[in-house]
Amino acid sequence: MPRISYVNGRFIRHSQAAVHIEDRGYQFADAVYEVIAIVRGRLIDDELHFERLERSLREIGIEMLFSRAIFRIKIAELLRLNRLTNGSLYLQVSRGVAPRNHKIPGPMTPAVVMTVRPLREIPAEVVEQGVPVITVPDIRWKRADIKTVGLLPNVLAKEEAVQRNVYEAWQMTPDGLVTEGTSTNAWIVKDGVLITHPAASAILNGVTRLALLKIAAELDIGLDERAFSVAEAYAADEAFLSSTSAFVVPIIKIDDRQIGSGVPGPVSTALLERYKEHLWSRNA
Ligand SMILES: Cc1ncc(COP(=O)(O)O)c(C=O)c1O
Repeated sequence: MPRISYVNGRFIRHSQAAVHIEDRGYQFADAVYEVIAIVRGRLIDDELHFERLERSLREIGIEMLFSRAIFRIKIAELLRLNRLTNGSLYLQVSRGVAPRNHKIPGPMTPAVVMTVRPLREIPAEVVEQGVPVITVPDIRWKRADIKTVGLLPNVLAKEEAVQRNVYEAWQMTPDGLVTEGTSTNAWIVKDGVLITHPAASAILNGVTRLALLKIAAELDIGLDERAFSVAEAYAADEAFLSSTSAFVVPIIKIDDRQIGSGVPGPVSTALLERYKEHLWSRNA
């Protein structure tokens, strides 16, 4: 069965799926995207993803081409054509195609592409043991809250993590405050209190982050939504990262310093367990 993707109204073989070379997403990163988890054929937290997509589009002045209802119909068809039940959906909307010019050439027809792929679960032993991360300077633009495809700083920071044999790179400001990972949000736990950067222009407000904030409240875990320093992270009892693709992954080392007792802690583990229930429950 060939893999099928969606390009501007058409469902076509993935190997033939292409956009125009003057797509502004390709030339200027003038595009936004979402990645949505699919579990048992259901889109997880899709309302939150659509809300964020609409916000990203609004912030850069791209007009939404279709409603959430239309998106849902097209996504259902894409899942059916690929016979996909567990995996993820990548959805990208660019401003569209026009002769290359920085100036936005008036109202345009946005280009919409969607691809799906099967679940790539992180091996259970990796999550059980926890992972190391490094810190790197955050060299991104000042609107990390908009989910644009302009991800080069994230790509290079992730590559540095890969070269140094760690799972993720936590980005930090010149004053040593941790913003977030390259494709994940960053969390620490100190004295039973969860600490994570507030939703602001310096971070992407992760949908997993929002789900975890809700779960933390349900579990009566104290929360301090504020930027924390790298020094605080080194001294934390626990640390972990979160995203649609990684779910919750405990961190046991930051810059080669052991975090807490060097094994995943109780708060991270409790959040992960409840998050998994959220994924597999019927009303996510
Ligand atoms: C920079 C960044 N931060 C955080 C996240 C996590 O967001 P979500 O939980 O919505 O996947 C992502 C996901 O791609 C990201 O790219």
